[in-house]
Amino acid sequence: MAQPHQSSARSMFGSLALIAVVIGCGAAAFAYTAGWFSPQRLTPDKMVDALKPPTGEPLGHRRNHAKGICFTGVFEANGAGTALSHAQVFTRGQYPVVGRFNLGTADPNAPDATVRVRGMGLRISTPDGQEWRSAMIDPPIFPVSTPQAFYELLLASASKDPNAMKTFAAARPEFAAFGAWATSGPWTGSYAEERYNGLNSFVFTDSSGAERTVRWSLLPAAQPMSVSPDDLAKRGPDFLEQEITERLRGGPLRWTMVVTVANPGDPTADPSKAWPEDRRTVEVGTLTVEQIEPERNGPCRDINFDPTVLPSGMRTSDDPFPAARSSVYAKSYDLRTAEAKDYPRTAKDAKP
Ligand code: HEM
Repeated sequence: MAQPHQSSARSMFGSLALIAVVIGCGAAAFAYTAGWFSPQRLTPDKMVDALKPPTGEPLGHRRNHAKGICFTGVFEANGAGTALSHAQVFTRGQYPVVGRFNLGTADPNAPDATVRVRGMGLRISTPDGQEWRSAMIDPPIFPVSTPQAFYELLLASASKDPNAMKTFAAARPEFAAFGAWATSGPWTGSYAEERYNGLNSFVFTDSSGAERTVRWSLLPAAQPMSVSPDDLAKRGPDFLEQEITERLRGGPLRWTMVVTVANPGDPTADPSKAWPEDRRTVEVGTLTVEQIEPERNGPCRDINFDPTVLPSGMRTSDDPFPAARSSVYAKSYDLRTAEAKDYPRTAKDAKP
């Protein structure tokens, strides 16, 4: 039998060993999360680094879709969405919205006519305290199938090797469809004339517990008018922000929210693949944009339009993008909110 002092020494040694194991495991988990064990592993840091534009880190700004303007408005649900999801946002009624029109560039000073992709960030809040956040873009498909391929696209487009994009496109054949849209799809002269597509798929659960995989889009009430990029370039570097501010003086702007339901076998995990045209669609309500505010002091500035912030009745699917986006958006958000001195607010009463 062990003497009392021996047993207390042994138990102290045991406790220290246990602490060392706990710390060791914590450090290993940290190193794993940071990607130290697998240099090939894609991390938010690597993605943010790859997004850096030639003009330099956009301090104080979003690391992608860095140029934008805030809006507020309302989402009016018509009740039809309750057939797909029990989220309160689909119960007939009006729910407040904060959003952001933006350009798909990491350069906050890019001239509007030089940026091919336009986007919208949207946050709809409901009385049950839940939120539906979404960030959508105007192309009908995403350029690539996986987050890893998106990282490779960023590297190729920043590469000094003149063949980098050709090599990339050969390795990622799905890129061809986006390339065709980017080169021959129409341009418009207004954020109000764009269709904004969620592209990623999510799972909706209705009140009986039935699940359906869906994507969603916002269809503009305004008629899209095609304008050539050359003509757009003559309108000035910030024509989109000026145009939408001016247009809103004539009255609120509207979009219809349409949810598309996948059939079994549709490519739910790949936003570079459109679903067939004949899929079931449900018009669930109308987004009305009522007021525009500059981003600097505006209500969208400090929102992270993280696509995984979803109300009960919606969840992520087998699509790998939303989780990857969530981790990169969080990194971008942490950086930009810590750099507020590089993008100071100007209004005295501006909120943090
Ligand atoms: C792995 C792929 C992607 C990466 C790494 C990425 C990266 C980013 C980053 C860093 C931001 C800034 C976030 C912030 O600071 O708040 C952002 C914003 C945005 N992204 Fe993505 N993104 C990806 C995929 C997508 C997809 C698939 C879509 C559309 C379907 C999209 C649409 C947008 C939009 C509209 C914004 C602006 C939202 C706002 O106004 O704050 N992104 N993205």
